[in-house]
Amino acid sequence: MNRRQWMMGSLLGAAARAAAAPGAPKNIVIASANGTRACARAREILDAGGDTLDAVIAGVNINEEDPEDSSVGYGGLPNEEGVVELDASVMHGPTRRAGAVAALRNIKTPSKVARLVMEQTDHLMLVGEGALRFAKAIGFQEENLLTEKSRLAWLVWKKSLKDGRGHSNWGEGLASPAKKPAAWLREQFPKADEALLAWAWEVAVRPPSGTINCLALNTKGEMSGVTSTSGLAWKIPGRVGDSPILGAGLWVDQDVGAAGSTGRGEENIRVAGAHTIVENLRQGMGPREACLDALKRVARNFSNDQSKLAQFDLSFYALRKDGAYAGASLWGGPRPRRFAVNDGGESRLEPCVTLFDQRP
Ligand code: GLY
Repeated sequence: MNRRQWMMGSLLGAAARAAAAPGAPKNIVIASANGTRACARAREILDAGGDTLDAVIAGVNINEEDPEDSSVGYGGLPNEEGVVELDASVMHGPTRRAGAVAALRNIKTPSKVARLVMEQTDHLMLVGEGALRFAKAIGFQEENLLTEKSRLAWLVWKKSLKDGRGHSNWGEGLASPAKKPAAWLREQFPKADEALLAWAWEVAVRPPSGTINCLALNTKGEMSGVTSTSGLAWKIPGRVGDSPILGAGLWVDQDVGAAGSTGRGEENIRVAGAHTIVENLRQGMGPREACLDALKRVARNFSNDQSKLAQFDLSFYALRKDGAYAGASLWGGPRPRRFAVNDGGESRLEPCVTLFDQRP
């Protein structure tokens, strides 16, 4: 081997070691399962050298503006009065800053407003009417966030409510002939197609609390995160879930990692899930173990009573500063939950690890 060959061999060897070096930061984005497009968009921004918070917010904006995502932003399922109320939080690792909004009406992109709370105020969270006034002062336009689809789902929910005698003020009068529920629904909404009505009935009787959480790491080791939601469907106006609560729906510690959640916010707030997970990472747990530990704390709050735990789901997502990641859900079963990952190329869905296999 001559001197040149030896030099080349050494350089190539060093490059290979650098590429494979464990713990070397890389561009990677993870999100809840509805975030494959968000991950891809965020990853493009990271690859172009963009900031991690710019990346995750741009990613989540896709869902917030999508009328077909009924868990986030425009088209999100409304509160019990038929009004869409949005919650969001953002955290920027490099500057260790954060912002949040809760119960925000009439603005499609609460994650952008949360960012402006972080950047343009000395506060961390604005809620309700104050959050809306702030957004308008900054230049956001008010819009009706209720789509025809989410309005139909809300009406189906209203009509599904019955008193102890099976009567509903939103149903037919007592003098009308009795009808089977499916035929009755079809008659009430003659223009809606079967699939839409089936979905509306499902969300009426099992109100979802879908959300998007998106976490990013870049090659400089910088991290950011965002969580955005329309919250629990048919909630009492003013109800706030975990998504805008820093430490529950989202936590980023630039030295350690980031975590976020989707699912029933009330149970997550009671274990400060995202903060718990990041602290678990700091203590040396891997991302899967860290998330499962947070889920065990949720189960502990119900004395591990699976009949109660079976009534909801909760998922956590964790991204460690070295790029290791995981998604974890309370329940497995025939359709186990998944989460989105993009570490190059197309986003993919990976299975969540689960605390319990099957609902009893
Ligand atoms: N995780 C969303 C909510 O409970 O509002």
